[in-house]
Amino acid sequence: MIVLGLESSCDDTAAGIVQDGKELASIVASQDDVHGPYGGVVPELAARNHVVHVVPVVRRALEVAGLSLADVDGVAATMGPGLVGCLLVGLSAAKSIARARGLPFVGVNHIEGHLLSIELDEALRRPFLGLVVSGGHSALYWAGEDGSYGLLGSTRDDAAGEAYDKAAKLLGLGYPGGREIEKLAREGDPTAFSFPRPRVKGAELDLSFSGLKTALRLTIEKSPDARPADVAASFQAAVVDTLLIATRRAIGATGAKTVVVTGGVSANQALRKAMEAMAEEEGADLRVPPLKRCTDNGVMIAYAGWRRLVRGESDPLSLNARATLPLGPRMAIGS
Ligand code: KG4
Ligand code: ZN
Repeated sequence: MIVLGLESSCDDTAAGIVQDGKELASIVASQDDVHGPYGGVVPELAARNHVVHVVPVVRRALEVAGLSLADVDGVAATMGPGLVGCLLVGLSAAKSIARARGLPFVGVNHIEGHLLSIELDEALRRPFLGLVVSGGHSALYWAGEDGSYGLLGSTRDDAAGEAYDKAAKLLGLGYPGGREIEKLAREGDPTAFSFPRPRVKGAELDLSFSGLKTALRLTIEKSPDARPADVAASFQAAVVDTLLIATRRAIGATGAKTVVVTGGVSANQALRKAMEAMAEEEGADLRVPPLKRCTDNGVMIAYAGWRRLVRGESDPLSLNARATLPLGPRMAIGS
């Protein structure tokens, strides 16, 4: 079965094609240049740019796969969570293709796409604990043996990637901020400044990054002569530690033997290294997708869609985009 998947939940317009769960093509049109001058995603600009890129990315994905639309057996698109104006572009394009060619259509939860992206390269056994850290999301999920999901904890304010992007803006660095801070942090001393490792009282698996952002701003104001590399390294150490502490607690609470870390921030080498060491200490198997699958892409949506389509499931073309879309119920564990 050949499935075309479209992703447009934030600032990447992406199309991917899978055949029986294996990648045939993955094309991403990034809008970093568009949003760079603003230091963050401007929703209206993102939506308009998706309109420009959506047909070309589908065309290119088909070209790379050596296919035409006539070869496609089903169409998937991200239905949420994300920016509604952005989601609507990919979703409408996918529905139009499905309608025109009489193909089954499925709406995919963006978070499930991220969590399952690793299966494009290697088998993953359930149950597993998943940490999704990106520009829009920072949450811990439990993926049950029966295919169900539960939310263990999530950020109360900013996402980890958003914190990186805002910190980069404060430090006068480019966008997306994560990559820029990571680069600068390599030359800095992570112990130069002591930033908070925020925890949410009474909900120990929840995260919070807004206090960290404020602490960073105050540090820059109070120590204008501080080496930016030291500030970046100390900030990164605090983000990594915060994610590490919550993930370690979640392993303790669930007894997870497999931990998946994914989303744009999981491209961060400092986070990967720290997670690897922690997982080893906890006796858990850490799985992080290859770099190209960590950030938003269409092939993870095609894959998650294929899993449903192959079981004969589909969604009506009346399916709407959803800015918030829980992947599963909140689990009481650890709270
Ligand atoms: O998953 P993604 O492509 O899009 C969302 O769904 O948000 O993640 C983008 C986020 C941005 O906030 C970016 O700053 C962050 O991932 N990011 C990084 C790194 N590369 C991208 N954060 C830390 N270190 C990196 N190397
Ligand atoms: Zn994402």
